[in-house]
Amino acid sequence: MKENVALIGFMGTGKTSVAERLAARMGKRCLDLDAVIAEKSGKTIPRIFEEDGEKVFRNLETEAVKEASRKSGVVLACGGGVVLDKVNIEHLRRNSVIICLTAKPEKILERVGASGTRPLLNVQDRSERMRRLLSSRDQLYEGSADHMVDTTDLTIDQVVERIVAVLGREMGEDQ
Ligand code: S3P
Repeated sequence: MKENVALIGFMGTGKTSVAERLAARMGKRCLDLDAVIAEKSGKTIPRIFEEDGEKVFRNLETEAVKEASRKSGVVLACGGGVVLDKVNIEHLRRNSVIICLTAKPEKILERVGASGTRPLLNVQDRSERMRRLLSSRDQLYEGSADHMVDTTDLTIDQVVERIVAVLGREMGEDQ
């Protein structure tokens, strides 16, 4: 029986907020992989991208995934690009049910707002960049996930309840 839940999906689909509430709901610990990377490297994610480049970030991400996959009883909020390296998904799959959160592009734009915390969307035409990234990753998200949940019109609690219902079947838990 898999003991962890890994949330994957594009930026702005709600992974971090949902992971926190899902972990509380299930009596598990929440681990946000971007936060782990930032803490370990002593830098924010935008600073890592800016000073060291995306490749360095991706290596740190794979290290964080490996380490997190060895833990049990955790809900993992993965960064949106975790699906880019299939090694990450292989690690996650060993001990996690993988749930992919999705949302309509308009909703994603609304949620990511104008903040500069997403280096990949820190461009002038962020709508066009987002659509391009989404279409290049769509199949990776689908192919990596055990289940997909569309969060576009749902509150965080509604998403949590959907996931709990799915997991009840998958993990044999009586939530
Ligand atoms: C990324 C998503 C971000 C963060 C980094 C790269 C991506 O995480 O890991 O900026 O490639 O989609 P969130 O999905 O939590 O925003």
